[in-house]
Amino acid sequence: MKIISKKISRRNFIKAAFTTGIALGGGLIVGCGEEKPSFPSNLKVNFVRQIITKDSTNSRCVMWQTDSPMTEPILELISNGVTEKIPVTDSTFNDDNNENIQYTAQIENLKPNSEYEFKIVDGEKSSETFTLKTYDEKKFKGIIFPDSQSADYDVWGEVAQAAFKQNPDAEFFLNMGDIVDNGEDRAQWEAWMVRVEDQLKKIPFAPVMGNHECYSRDWQERYPIAYLNYFAVPANDDKYFDRRYYSFDLGAAHFVVLDSQWLELDAFAPGVVEAQKKWLQEDLLSTKKTWKIICVHRDVLQYKINGRADWLEGFSNVGVEFMPEFDYWNVDVVFTAHLHTYRNRGHIRNFHDDPTGPLYILTGVSGDVRYPGLWVNHTLDKVVAPQPETDNFLTIEGDEKNLLIKSFLPNGKLLDEIKLTK
Ligand SMILES: [Fe+2]
Ligand SMILES: [Fe+2]
Repeated sequence: MKIISKKISRRNFIKAAFTTGIALGGGLIVGCGEEKPSFPSNLKVNFVRQIITKDSTNSRCVMWQTDSPMTEPILELISNGVTEKIPVTDSTFNDDNNENIQYTAQIENLKPNSEYEFKIVDGEKSSETFTLKTYDEKKFKGIIFPDSQSADYDVWGEVAQAAFKQNPDAEFFLNMGDIVDNGEDRAQWEAWMVRVEDQLKKIPFAPVMGNHECYSRDWQERYPIAYLNYFAVPANDDKYFDRRYYSFDLGAAHFVVLDSQWLELDAFAPGVVEAQKKWLQEDLLSTKKTWKIICVHRDVLQYKINGRADWLEGFSNVGVEFMPEFDYWNVDVVFTAHLHTYRNRGHIRNFHDDPTGPLYILTGVSGDVRYPGLWVNHTLDKVVAPQPETDNFLTIEGDEKNLLIKSFLPNGKLLDEIKLTK
């Protein structure tokens, strides 16, 4: 007896299963030259993913796709041998000339620091069993990936898998936006997801929207339909900008994810800058968490570009609009992206180097789109990744006293390390 799924890649496994007409979901077992599926796991579900919720100590959102509509979809949550049926919402959407059959389950009232199992069920059919963990109210650890947009998503897969292998204790992962190169292209979303499908199943994902989520196949600006439908992030109580910005708690940290795409999206829905400033006030006033951490795709600084005399050093429109807000609300850390380079600018307040201000980290690149030799170092840059730049990822961990941020090359070499204490 041998399990052939261990000997071939997931993609070839799926291909083999399709060509032999075998149901997917469970183990495929080969014995004495015959192939048969191992029931009862006989429901094929694709891209099962846990999405971050407001509070990961007691809730989780689970989403998945199917090839054909489910008739009686239910999520079965299993804890200590007791099964609870969680209602499922049909969240199917149309984009890229495709119907994307999709379902969403919101699981509430979980216990902190607990392990659960869940299955997706449709009548007599059931998926394989997945695991779900809830987290501590204080300690936390996660991985932050910069722009993963790629021509070949194998690069993203290699960076991501190296990060997960080196950090098996990561409790969540976050992508800083420009998750894909073209936000309308369904094949790119699937290419991105398939390379982290084992992690999406297991730990919650927190997405940030980038400008590339807002482009059509013919590179026109468009509303980020796929992004907003693929990830049912926590509500911001503003239906007009639903899912475009949000916040969540993880351990001792309060994370805020902002939308910096008003250049692309104001033509479709104006006013996101003012809406976010108002919401940010309410959101940051109400949190009691030790660490206030902002994640926003576009960087706050403006860099000189080699060979472009008209492009001056300064602050971007995101910086001009939001850095005074971050100062006022005593934000601890601001993570940005978009420029595909890793830079630690230290603490900035009132647009100047100041140890009392928020720490600003430009997170780098985790796909294959790189800009070698493009940026001229900014006066505020403290640490710059070795040039020409390859890829990197970051880890963030902490508790009520300490916050540790590290940036790594995929081979595990440490690029930068910052420790904050309260
Ligand atoms: Fe990008
Ligand atoms: Fe970008």
